[in-house]
Amino acid sequence: MFGVYIHVPFCSSRCGYCDFNTYTPGELGSSASFASYLDALEHELELAAALRESRGDRRQANTVFIGGGTPSMLGARGLTRILEAIRNTTGIASDAEITTESNPESTSLEFFAALREAGYTRISLGMQSASPTVLRILERAHTPGRAFDAAREAQQAGFSHVNLDMIYGTPYETDDDVRLTLEKVLETGVDHVSAYSLIVEDGTRMARKVRKGEIPAPQEDTYADRFAMIDRELQAAGMQWYEVSNWARPGGECQHNLGYWRNFDWWGAGPGAHSHLQGQRFSNVKHPARYAQQLSTGQLPIAEEEQLTAVERHEERVMLGLRLREGLSTSTFSASEQAVIQRFVELGLLTMNTQVALTEKGRLLADGMITDILLAHDVD
Ligand SMILES: C[S@@+](CC[C@H](N)C(=O)[O-])C[C@H]1O[C@@H](n2cnc3c(N)ncnc32)[C@H](O)[C@@H]1O
Ligand code: SF4
Repeated sequence: MFGVYIHVPFCSSRCGYCDFNTYTPGELGSSASFASYLDALEHELELAAALRESRGDRRQANTVFIGGGTPSMLGARGLTRILEAIRNTTGIASDAEITTESNPESTSLEFFAALREAGYTRISLGMQSASPTVLRILERAHTPGRAFDAAREAQQAGFSHVNLDMIYGTPYETDDDVRLTLEKVLETGVDHVSAYSLIVEDGTRMARKVRKGEIPAPQEDTYADRFAMIDRELQAAGMQWYEVSNWARPGGECQHNLGYWRNFDWWGAGPGAHSHLQGQRFSNVKHPARYAQQLSTGQLPIAEEEQLTAVERHEERVMLGLRLREGLSTSTFSASEQAVIQRFVELGLLTMNTQVALTEKGRLLADGMITDILLAHDVD
């Protein structure tokens, strides 16, 4: 299995909570444009295919994910051009899953129809909440109704795989806000929901507001209550959790993200994108101007490169794989790790047979348990 991720580093405005590698037109000025980005991206894809070819790696992409930033700002023409570039370099398997993220305010029925025509098979929309208050605190650019209209337009255009991203635990959010959001999500009939607890990232406008006491910090207990509510409603409506923050109808699981969690290889192209090839990691330079400049000299825009040690590979495998419902083979773990796992089994947080997996109750404690299990790794 092989994935291709493309990072689109543009947004019309920056949401107050977001620290992703993305730039507004004001931040970029004349240093980079969509045109210079697309040219550079095509060049990177050619160089990446040549590098893989030189190592005897001719795998086509089974999954493609265009993320951001706001890929929909490139319009259907830009997104079609990206897909063509991947087809002409890496190649795309005929049954591949091809997703693009989109922001509700920069989409339309015509946009989705053109993406379907180009070969996209899945749309992921940043909905976040149906509450106007929550969207205002998050500083989102769209009205509550727009995300749901966009989901319906994508379905009308022929997309049977549509995801809505949701954020919970925002200061001032109420139980009713979350209830309303879930109601609206389920009304659309989408086949996938990702729900993330709000993280107040250092360096963001939201972090400054929390520090100055202008808005309260999110509460851990609220996260737990909201997670339980979201999980209950989604599962009652026939959506199954398959990763701690992801629910899908049968067949709606995101194959690309499953590839990350199962530790498969992928090439990430675009400013700041990461790649993972047979235990080797690369990360690209972050600024779009530097990215284009480095490619103009005929070099891959790699800022850092590292070969993971056996211990790092094990840690990565456990950190990613244990968040999945399917869990990891018990043989992945050393005897001392299994002893720690056994303690969590007794607490009803994990199960251990041929696989080690989270129980429903264990999901919210996954990260802490993973840390404890990995601390035992060195003991062997
Ligand atoms: C980085 S965005 C890219 C997609 C698109 N620009 C959007 O905002 O919908 C992907 C998702 O990450 C989530 N996200 C970003 N920053 C977050 C934060 N600080 N805490 C929780 N979720 C976050 C949001 O749900 C968002 O939809
Ligand atoms: S639109 Fe998405 S990527 Fe852009 S700033 Fe907002 S959350 Fe971040």
